[in-house]
Amino acid sequence: MILSFFAVVSLLSLTSPVESKTISSAWLAGWHTVDATPTFDLGNISWSKYTDLYFSFAIPTANTSELSLDGSNGDLLPSFVQQAHANGVNAHIAVGGWDGSIYFSTAVGSAENRTRFVKAITNFATNYSLDGINFDWEAPNNQGLSCSIVNADDTANFLSFLQELRADPIGSNLTLSAATGLTPFLDSTGSPLTNVSGFAEVFDFITIMNYDVWGSWSASVGPNAPLNDSCAAQSNQQGSAVSAVSSWLTAGMPLEKIVLGVASYGHSFRVNQTSAFVSGSTTELAAYPPFNASDYPLGDSWDTDADGPDPCGVPGQNGGVFDFWSLIEKGYLDEQGNFTSAVAHRFDECSQTPYLYDEDNELMISFDNAQSFAAKGSFIQNYGLGGFAMWEAGGDSNDILLDAIRLATGFEEDFDDC
Ligand SMILES: *[C@@H]1O[C@H](CO)[C@@H](O)[C@H](O)[C@H]1NC(C)=O
Ligand SMILES: *[C@@H]1O[C@H](CO)[C@@H](O)[C@H](O)[C@H]1NC(C)=O
Ligand SMILES: *[C@@H]1O[C@H](CO)[C@@H](O)[C@H](O)[C@H]1NC(C)=O
Ligand SMILES: *[C@@H]1O[C@H](CO)[C@@H](O)[C@H](O)[C@H]1NC(C)=O
Ligand SMILES: *[C@@H]1O[C@H](CO)[C@@H](O)[C@H](O)[C@H]1NC(C)=O
Ligand SMILES: *[C@@H]1O[C@H](CO)[C@@H](O)[C@H](O)[C@H]1NC(C)=O
Ligand SMILES: *[C@@H]1O[C@H](CO)[C@@H](O)[C@H](O)[C@H]1NC(C)=O
Ligand SMILES: *[C@@H]1O[C@H](CO)[C@@H](O)[C@H](O)[C@H]1NC(C)=O
Ligand SMILES: *[C@@H]1O[C@H](CO)[C@@H](O)[C@H](O)[C@H]1NC(C)=O
Ligand SMILES: *[C@@H]1O[C@H](CO)[C@@H](O)[C@H](O)[C@H]1NC(C)=O
Repeated sequence: MILSFFAVVSLLSLTSPVESKTISSAWLAGWHTVDATPTFDLGNISWSKYTDLYFSFAIPTANTSELSLDGSNGDLLPSFVQQAHANGVNAHIAVGGWDGSIYFSTAVGSAENRTRFVKAITNFATNYSLDGINFDWEAPNNQGLSCSIVNADDTANFLSFLQELRADPIGSNLTLSAATGLTPFLDSTGSPLTNVSGFAEVFDFITIMNYDVWGSWSASVGPNAPLNDSCAAQSNQQGSAVSAVSSWLTAGMPLEKIVLGVASYGHSFRVNQTSAFVSGSTTELAAYPPFNASDYPLGDSWDTDADGPDPCGVPGQNGGVFDFWSLIEKGYLDEQGNFTSAVAHRFDECSQTPYLYDEDNELMISFDNAQSFAAKGSFIQNYGLGGFAMWEAGGDSNDILLDAIRLATGFEEDFDDC
């Protein structure tokens, strides 16, 4: 009916749309576009809902002049860029990643290498018609993978490299960003930088990876991607979006250059029934219960971590990651992403985190749902952050998470699927 159509339009125009430069983005995991069950290919991407996408990963190699796309279905990169551009989406390459940060330190380790690495990056960007580079070094002067090369001067060398890249005629035209931890890069003594103004000058934005805050390495079950932790007990303050934004802002990263990384997956923990429930209850889940740290649960069908050794040759073990779609597939959540009667559940207000418990498998999962994504979207809008970046595009189900965060961040409704 025509009247109601105009009523909807005028209602929408009353709400203030986000500034056009606000970023709605996600990483595309190249290895899930092929040989995965299910695959998440270019055809699965809701292009019209993104401003930016990061193809993951190109990896620095022992030869500073070469980046490798091995393991990421690099054959797809030209089509990815072409389809992104056809949809008005900025196409970035994400460089590095957890498994791909072994050689960053040497790539920026000397003036000669920095010049070589600038050339490798600009050649790559030109060859693939990329709009931007998302540096995902995990992490400067921080071990990460066991065989990653680490140097006390990593952070200073990284900045020198970025300044040289910015001074390059091709580099100056690229959108440069970095996927970062909750605290600023570590200085030569191992402490977070207290002044990141140099990085603020060279980066268009940073994407803070506010996830994997709790996992199999933690002392108890906790939130994968807490929005807040200053409202939690002291021992459960392990970082959050609130703490991360505060750390980076205090060190000089402007709010509008801070893009919040959000997770379309959760971590699972083996928790027996005695620990899972509040004492005396068979329905009310305990908060921060202990779990069996020597029993690594298998996650969903994308959890192949135990299939082989990592790039350093260390034998793999189950990752225990459950993507949002798999929680629906398992019947823990219904098609709208709401809890089913199959599981006990709770929602932690401080971190804005849902938890579910599968009694039969003694599995507790902390993850993000539409409610937590909406809370993060409101946080982004209220604090004037640069937007959001979701790891990973393929984790969502029917855009339940993406739609929730877009709406709360202030993006206008996408009428494409009406
Ligand atoms: C991608 O789309 C295909 C075809 O519609 C579907 O079978 C598959 O489940 C989708 N992948 C994901 C991860 O949703
Ligand atoms: C490093 O890569 C460059 C560019 O592909 C190549 O020209 C050079 O020969 C390589 N160096 C070594 C030592 O393999
Ligand atoms: C420079 O890069 C080469 C490989 O391209 C590496 O062997 C060497 O150690 C690097 N230099 C520094 C100081 O990191
Ligand atoms: C340039 O792109 C083509 C695919 O379009 C690829 O085959 C080639 O390896 C790329 N070269 C470099 C140096 O990245
Ligand atoms: C700068 O980047 C834009 C799009 O990212 C591209 O269209 C343009 O050709 C680039 N200009 C130069 C000088 O590389
Ligand atoms: C931060 O460092 C920049 C130079 O990189 C300097 O100009 C500025 O004064 C420093 N800020 C503070 C608060 O020390
Ligand atoms: C985080 O928690 C603190 C302490 O309870 C509270 O003052 C603050 O408003 C919270 N921030 C957000 C964004 O939830
Ligand atoms: C339940 O798990 C806790 C913590 O891992 C452990 O201390 C306890 O012994 C377990 N209880 C049973 C009955 O297995
Ligand atoms: C923890 O898991 C290990 C490995 O599956 C098992 O051997 C051990 O009995 C478990 N501990 C408890 C307290 O259930
Ligand atoms: C189910 O989830 C949707 C969002 O995904 C929400 O709008 C709706 O209110 C939920 N329904 C119930 C009964 O909680």
